[in-house]
Amino acid sequence: MTEAILLVGGKGTRLRPLTVHTPKPMVPAAGVPFLTHQLARARAAGVEHVVLATSYLAEVFEPYFGDGSALGLHLEYVTEVEPLGTGGAIRNVASRLHSAPGDPVLIFNGDILTGLDIRALVDTHRTSGADVSLHLSRVEDPRAFGLVPTDDTGRVTAFLEKPQTPEEIVTDQINAGAYVFNRSVIDTIPTGRPVSVERETFPGLLADGAHLQGMVDSTYWLDLGTPQAFVRGSADLVLGRAPSPAVPGRCGDRLVLEGADVAPDAKLTGGTVVGPTATIGAGARVDGSTVLDGAVIEAGAQVRDSLIGAGARIGARTVLDGAVIGDGAVVGPDNELRDGIRIWCGADIPAGSVRFSSDQ
Ligand code: GDD
Ligand code: MG
Repeated sequence: MTEAILLVGGKGTRLRPLTVHTPKPMVPAAGVPFLTHQLARARAAGVEHVVLATSYLAEVFEPYFGDGSALGLHLEYVTEVEPLGTGGAIRNVASRLHSAPGDPVLIFNGDILTGLDIRALVDTHRTSGADVSLHLSRVEDPRAFGLVPTDDTGRVTAFLEKPQTPEEIVTDQINAGAYVFNRSVIDTIPTGRPVSVERETFPGLLADGAHLQGMVDSTYWLDLGTPQAFVRGSADLVLGRAPSPAVPGRCGDRLVLEGADVAPDAKLTGGTVVGPTATIGAGARVDGSTVLDGAVIEAGAQVRDSLIGAGARIGARTVLDGAVIGDGAVVGPDNELRDGIRIWCGADIPAGSVRFSSDQ
């Protein structure tokens, strides 16, 4: 097993309020662009050749990752003229693969943080003799995902992307976004038009009697599609709950990157990451949060489970809980922002303008 395709074409619009110019896979999680974790994990599992299937803001990947040699990989980039969808993106890079028709090729959604045992997925694929094997995860609310019921041998019986009605929710097993495809199956995907692997390829293969095998695995798994999930994932990388060889430094309660300026009595907990050139003021408390490059948290601010964009400023005594503050935004002193609030890049919230708690 040496080859993988990484799908990094989604618009990542759900992170839009946070960063205007950075595509989701390049937003730092535990100090490095998120994609680094996926690439490093693939390498650790024996993958040597990775093709990045990109569309949106594709030009930012190559200057950063280059030929992949810093990660011990051979990296190639293929950019779609128009987004081709997940299946179309896979088909579009087929000519870059070195694998023979019967060889297994790994495919990863580019926004997943997981402890998946990649080798075990490939082993399952080999021993079951499947055409395609899928990593499946169990979640409480499967509606935002692809539902994948299996029989008692793990063979996939249906694929229901984003179920709309309660009757469609037939299982809590979801597509976790990591597949092994036999190379020959990739070549059957139509060329030159958008194809959804979830809505077209998988149901079509099942209708044709192909063997799709599911591997349910209860390891750490998170889709980083929302800013809140992104903050959670970054903290879990720092805490060591989500395993990645690419975390720069030892796992623990906090990760303070070189060049950050943290006041001696500031309290950083819960997997908080402080980016290079960020500043944390006296007595500030930052828990389970990601503070990107150059951001400033002033004295006495309290920040929990929040994402602070590059160059943003959080005023003294301001309280943030579950907030997303866009790059360069300013939240003046003595504000209180909670529960999924998103402040647009560059916005300016004057001192003492927003509160949630009742008047004292
Ligand atoms: N190159 C390319 N071109 N990549 C794409 C395109 C495209 O047109 N569209 C989506 N992708 C990439 C995204 O960047 C992402 O890494 C991956 O394909 C999945 O797309 P999402 O937009 O994140 O889909 P989702 O999260 O709603 O659903 C998918 O992931 C779930 C697990 O997180 C589906 O695969 C579900 O079945 C699955 O449960
Ligand atoms: Mg996703």
